[in-house]
Amino acid sequence: MEKLVVEGGRPLIGSIPVSGAKNAALPILIATLVAPGEHRLGNIPDLADTSSTLSLLGRIGCPSLVNGVVRIDTSRVAFSEAPYDVVRKMRASVLVLGPLLARTGEAKVSLPGGCAIGTRPIDQHLKGLEALGCRFELSGGYIHGTVHDLRGADIHLDMPTVTGTENIVMAAVLARGTTRITNAAREPEVSDLCDFLVTLGAKIEGIGTSTLIIEGVPRLTPASRPYRIVPDRIEAGTYLCAAAATGGDVTLTGVDPKLMEATLAKLVEAGCDVRTTEDTIRLTRSRQLLPIKVRTEPFPGFPTDMQAQLMTLACFSKGTSTFEETIFENRYMHAAELLRMGADIQHAGRVATVRGNPPLKGAAVMASDLRASAALVIAGLAAEGITEVLRIYHLDRGYENLVGKLRAVGARIARVSDTVQDPAKLKAALDDLGPSVAPAEA
Ligand code: EPZ
Repeated sequence: MEKLVVEGGRPLIGSIPVSGAKNAALPILIATLVAPGEHRLGNIPDLADTSSTLSLLGRIGCPSLVNGVVRIDTSRVAFSEAPYDVVRKMRASVLVLGPLLARTGEAKVSLPGGCAIGTRPIDQHLKGLEALGCRFELSGGYIHGTVHDLRGADIHLDMPTVTGTENIVMAAVLARGTTRITNAAREPEVSDLCDFLVTLGAKIEGIGTSTLIIEGVPRLTPASRPYRIVPDRIEAGTYLCAAAATGGDVTLTGVDPKLMEATLAKLVEAGCDVRTTEDTIRLTRSRQLLPIKVRTEPFPGFPTDMQAQLMTLACFSKGTSTFEETIFENRYMHAAELLRMGADIQHAGRVATVRGNPPLKGAAVMASDLRASAALVIAGLAAEGITEVLRIYHLDRGYENLVGKLRAVGARIARVSDTVQDPAKLKAALDDLGPSVAPAEA
């Protein structure tokens, strides 16, 4: 296992390229199942989760090749199952339900189970697919779905679930008749999936709104040109928080500011200066960080995936910030680790209060989930002294070449075996001006 060692106190200065969005890549890679043939996808990030998705597609009978562009051949589906050992590592595997049922009439998927941030049920996925004529049985921790006559239906979601909307859309595009989904998720990654499906010949109206109208078609075929997925608004927001916390001057490139209005508004509220062009965002800070009030909401509200990173930023302001996490029931795991660095955070249920009391002091901290891990890296970059972030396999799921991107803007950060304890060796790793991409990320 490996850990990150970070020496804080250096403002980040320079430019960071933003990768393709993890949460667009996963559904779009899986959506290739609804259109037999060879697909080509661009801007797919090199992440543990995208590799897991490609290996899952391989086990289903769809080989892929990655060399800049990702090529997937979904001509044959040999095996309609997402096994437990894959799903437990990546809950998004449950997204194969809709496309496999639409393509083969059958799907067997391990129930994803809960994760650090919540129980993560999939009742809305199943409710929507059942409305389309699918039937499900649960046995041995697996959901076994079958459908003989996939037909359009009116579906109202109890909440705007992102992957729930995606699962239903990926089945409805091949259903007989019209499907109308109300209270659908409006996240940019859902829109990107719909836009991709349209390039395959799907008929979808209302993309980007909470009402999607899908006219089913008898078949879909791979697009003639490679499809380029949207930039990752959460990766982008994470690096902006690192720039803000360290008092740096960072420009993000290959980003879409229109997808990040809630996050950018919150950073301005925190006292940052934000300047944007069509595909860049520059953040600087010429004043003390200000306390903020954050309430997470479905898009276009403030994204839950940015809550942990903003909580870290709040620790470096002077004043009291408040947080309300309305999406997940247990998404303050990072708070206990920030307390180890001297933060003053209290939380009960979905509400948290942060009394900013900079500086934080470096410490050994434990990552618990993807975005909490990112929050701890930001804390280490802005704290005094050395911070070690353990269990960084969480980070590898969603941040492409994180160490390389941060080193390129002056961060003192390195990836080492978690057995390295000797301070001299840790310092040597930080001083090592070798390749900015650590071996594990090469
Ligand atoms: C997606 O998860 C993202 N993952 C999450 O990003 C993100 O935090 C979340 O949407 C919210 O934006 C991917 O896109 C792969 P939901 P998802 O279904 O679809 C409840 C990250 O860090 N719910 O929108 O699983 C659920 O419990 C990850 O990149 C039901 O009750 O989230 C939650 O409280 C973390 N029944 C709320 O809805 C259902 O059938 C929103 O969940 C489905 C969801």
